[in-house]
Amino acid sequence: MKPIHIGLLGIGTVGGGTYTVLKRNREEIARRAGREIIVTMIADKDLEKARALADSNVIVTGNAHEITTNPDIDIVVELIGGQTIAKDLILEALAHGKHVVTANKALLANHGTEIFAAARAKGVIIAFEAAVAGGIPIIKALREGLTANRITWIAGIINGTSNFILSEMREKGLSFEQVLAEAQKLGYAEADPTYDIEGIDAAHKITLMSAIAFGIPVQFSKVYTEGITKLTGEDIRYAEQLGYRIKLLGITKRVEKGIELRVHPTLIPVRRLIANVEGVMNAIVVKGDAVGATLYYGAGAGAEPTASSVIADLVDVTRLHTADPMYRVPPLSFQPDLLSDTPV
Ligand code: HSE
Repeated sequence: MKPIHIGLLGIGTVGGGTYTVLKRNREEIARRAGREIIVTMIADKDLEKARALADSNVIVTGNAHEITTNPDIDIVVELIGGQTIAKDLILEALAHGKHVVTANKALLANHGTEIFAAARAKGVIIAFEAAVAGGIPIIKALREGLTANRITWIAGIINGTSNFILSEMREKGLSFEQVLAEAQKLGYAEADPTYDIEGIDAAHKITLMSAIAFGIPVQFSKVYTEGITKLTGEDIRYAEQLGYRIKLLGITKRVEKGIELRVHPTLIPVRRLIANVEGVMNAIVVKGDAVGATLYYGAGAGAEPTASSVIADLVDVTRLHTADPMYRVPPLSFQPDLLSDTPV
């Protein structure tokens, strides 16, 4: 069967991880998807770096429009980040009838309504598992596994960088600045690390989870957001003495008047599982009326964990095209359904 052709926009940490894992696990991924998934083109502003990574049969370009408008590309993977160029490229790819896979939570949290509408209008998919909690398949859990439930609340550690900082400050007595520099070196932090430490990145992610769980529009501006920059080593030590850990949590829940959305440092008793989630790991608790509380745990950032989610979306989208009934899945609603009039 004809392979699915991918165009990769951006070959940084996650783009590089995606390319490497797609190559390494090529056969297994093809078996699960029902077709081979091949990276045909890569666009990056650093042509030298892209050429060094890509095999000789991959077309490397500095002009991303060559991918988003290319009739031979089936799925565009946007891993550039940011909200200007990435937005134009995604809208262009959708307008050309291409499915899009993205890890861009900032873009979707701020402009999701417009982007999801553009995808719907063309009957194509925009999939974003990698946008929330790195390698944890939480979007799929909310979109598929928990669909029987009326979700009552979601609470989670959803920024690996700030959790890494809090862990290292507590365990090694390192300063905030030292650990942030380390997180940047390891490729965990956002291009603008204030997004991590001021709770903005977590707010993007809770916005997207809330939209899927409660069927509300994406409304980033409604999230109460407070980061970890005001916390000191002393705060962390005092909390410990009292039997608590400080964690930056993203929380969304059904309340009488609508849906609450917030991100802030929270004191959690040490006996709770989530209090013991350390380093770059993320953990999310989702409470549904039928299933009760469920917990999802894994690496929230990093090249290959995030690539794992990007590729899971590529497999999902590819399955829509495959004829083999063993692997075909029914078309799914990848976007939040906007039918609910629940106020936020
Ligand atoms: N900067 C993000 C984090 C990357 O630290 O969690 C994954 O979204």
